[in-house]
Amino acid sequence: MKLELPASVTLVEVGPRDGLQNESAVIPAATKIELIQRLAASGLPAVEATAFVSPKWVPQMADHDTVLRGIERRPGVRYPVLTPNLKGYHNAIAAGADEVAIFGAASESFSQKNINCSIAASLDRFAPIVEAARAEGVRVRGYVSCALGCPYEGAIEPAAVAEVASHLHEMGCFEVSLGDTIGVGTPLAAQRMVETVAERVPIERLAAHFHDTYGQALANLFAVLALGIRTVDSAVAGLGGCPYARGASGNVATEDVLYMLHGMDIDTGVDLDAVVAAGQWICTELGKTPQSKLARIV
Ligand code: HMG
Ligand code: MG
Repeated sequence: MKLELPASVTLVEVGPRDGLQNESAVIPAATKIELIQRLAASGLPAVEATAFVSPKWVPQMADHDTVLRGIERRPGVRYPVLTPNLKGYHNAIAAGADEVAIFGAASESFSQKNINCSIAASLDRFAPIVEAARAEGVRVRGYVSCALGCPYEGAIEPAAVAEVASHLHEMGCFEVSLGDTIGVGTPLAAQRMVETVAERVPIERLAAHFHDTYGQALANLFAVLALGIRTVDSAVAGLGGCPYARGASGNVATEDVLYMLHGMDIDTGVDLDAVVAAGQWICTELGKTPQSKLARIV
């Protein structure tokens, strides 16, 4: 099989946010800051740092202010943070954010459970964030959760994903990340979904955010890279999961994505050994085993 694969791929590391939001133990802010700094030092171009969400909804992200203010920023590295509403946006900006992410869903039930409003209401809520961000020169990334299935509704039509993604794109998101929140996708389903979304949003503006619950994430990534996806979200040590998606386990592990990409001569600018070390360090801190296959054998 002859495939058109890219010379380089951009990785967005989501471990400090997606990875740690789902941990039950309290993690000191200093540990989160050290993780973010280790990941940034490995050459990762973007490290999603935290989420300015309600502490009642996600207690694990309640220290967002301390974490974002505490990072020693490396030049050239982006540190996006999640902002569900204007309150979160203003708090994030006050703490020094220069890139934020708004997060919607292709499933009504998940939207209600995760952010307590309908899809339409969420888009109305996001619009003033994007407007304020544009005025302040802040970049806004968008997410569409449940792009390959919903924990409450099951199958999700690719057209529903395309609808939300195109709203986020038209609103002004520089990139829209398509989330397989519960990792149920398989390669051809991932391709069908991306092809449908790409009819409405240029493929170079799309990213893949695949969880690995069913062990399909690397295969799904390979399938969508072959279509032209050039930005991939992943989490060190395969940490991750959404507290509002039953059964959601880790994101695809950054280490394993790097091994696959580098093995295909695709450049990332990231030092794999440094990411493995960061993953082993945070897993020791958390008292767990890295979910990355690679990290288990080195
Ligand atoms: P709500 O309860 O409907 O909010 O929550 P509200 O506007 O009615 O306000 C209620 C109280 O919350 C008020 O305080 C507000 O001030 C406060 P009170 O008057 O009761 O003292 N509040 C806030 N506090 C701090 N920061 C804020 C904020 N907003 C309101 N930003 C809300 C609505 C959206 C806030 C809530 O549902 C929420 O925070 N949800 C976030 C859930 C979440 O973080 N999920 C995980 C991230 S998504 C994900 O993991 C998927 C992804 O990885 C992609 C994929 O895998 O598919 C991105
Ligand atoms: Mg996620």
